[in-house]
Amino acid sequence: MKNISVIGVGYVGLVTSTCFADLGNNVIALDINKERVANLKKGILPIYEPGLEEVVERNVEAGRLHFTSSYDEALRDAEFVFIAVGTPEKKDGGADLQYVESAVREIAKNMTRELIIINKSTVPVGTGDWVAETIKKYQSKDIPFSVVSCPEFLREGSAIADFTNPARTVLGSAKKSAAEKVAHLHLPLRAPIIITDLRTAEMIKYASNAFLATKISFINEVADICEALGADIKEVAVGMGYDPRIGKAFLDAGLGWGGSCFPKDVKALAYMAKQNQTHPQMLNSVMEINADRSNKVVDFLEDKLGDLSGKKIALLGLAFKPNTDDMREAVSIKLVDALSAKGAAVHGYDPVAQDVAAKLLPDLAIEKDAYSALDQANAVVIVTEWNEFKQLNLEKIKKLMISPVIFDGRNIYDPEQMARLGFAYKSIGR
Ligand code: NAD
Ligand code: UGA
Repeated sequence: MKNISVIGVGYVGLVTSTCFADLGNNVIALDINKERVANLKKGILPIYEPGLEEVVERNVEAGRLHFTSSYDEALRDAEFVFIAVGTPEKKDGGADLQYVESAVREIAKNMTRELIIINKSTVPVGTGDWVAETIKKYQSKDIPFSVVSCPEFLREGSAIADFTNPARTVLGSAKKSAAEKVAHLHLPLRAPIIITDLRTAEMIKYASNAFLATKISFINEVADICEALGADIKEVAVGMGYDPRIGKAFLDAGLGWGGSCFPKDVKALAYMAKQNQTHPQMLNSVMEINADRSNKVVDFLEDKLGDLSGKKIALLGLAFKPNTDDMREAVSIKLVDALSAKGAAVHGYDPVAQDVAAKLLPDLAIEKDAYSALDQANAVVIVTEWNEFKQLNLEKIKKLMISPVIFDGRNIYDPEQMARLGFAYKSIGR
């Protein structure tokens, strides 16, 4: 049992604190957002993540998981402090480190005993060294500390499983003994542990996300070629994926990658490259391919419906992927903007991201379920592949819609069946 503090209770911080508590540690999770902390104390979670609520509840009840807004309280007994605050994109494409900086300054001011500071936020290469300098600068007393980079690889929607069964744990530090102590915390997860230097650990995170985004942009480009040549991208992906050198994962063609990480991380890596006089040619292409994906939807709808002004277009799925309420960089945002600009009446439904979408997208009419969204619609777009859209009653849908036009942006339906039912159906790369 170790005393652990986690700074930031967003997607990563809440999962990290909860899962470490579940392993038997004593964890205090801190956030500057007092409303989040007050809600967590009442058992109300700030995010939707399948399965998380019951693990939080179990560990709060067991007295192993606590929430606070006080750095003094969070650091009083901590041996390990994880930083899990946001690192959003700046206007120039670089990562914004203001939240990391304020967290680090508070840690420096409030630490009272030897501490291992572990960075879980995705940060530019070199940040670990800067964290060490910042701690020294703002410490009130000369207390020994170490900095370790421990990038997080969880995915939203499967965060608990990803945290508890990671493919690997990466630890970077200038002090091997500190990295080994953090490795010890991760031993129950039984994953390979890679111990390296700070900069290499930081780069492994960016390179991993950029590679996954590249895989998706690649399959999307091949999907366009399939479409032009009459091949089926789903079968192409299966045929490729059996090769262990390629692998099956991340070969689903669609409307492109979004979310709180790929867009900002690919951009930040390209920015770091440019700042250091190298040419991120491939990263630029990967972003360019992704930027164009949603244009296909508008082109198809105009082709089928002509002028979109006054037409009702239904979007099924608003979150950036299924099983999350996260709308950051979701394709639905681009679609609402583009379709509203054409004068269309855009209606949308999402099983969990409704409230977030309502705040973010004033031009969007939020519907209570898929059938209400489709009622009297001129066309529907499958934006996010939630399971509940996979077996909708297609005959009922056809009757409800003014015209049976479907753009299946995630390839969830069978083109032959859709043709048989009389839909004007378009999917990706088939
Ligand atoms: P988030 O926006 O969900 O949560 C960040 C939290 O930090 C917020 O609750 C905010 O109030 C809090 N915060 C900000 N400044 C603070 C401060 N000075 N002190 C205390 N709390 C503070 O962010 P997230 O999605 O969890 O991402 C966190 C980091 O982890 C980012 O660097 C991200 O790139 C990385 N990451 C995210 C994921 C993911 O799936 N979301 C996965 C891997 C890595
Ligand atoms: C991603 C990575 O998968 C995590 O390993 C990483 O920790 C995280 O970013 C991060 O750094 O924040 P996440 O953004 O939660 O996780 O979601 P993914 O499942 O990776 O999906 C990202 C985007 O790619 C989604 O828009 C999804 O629809 C799209 N995608 C994914 C595809 O279009 N095709 C695929 O085959 C897979």
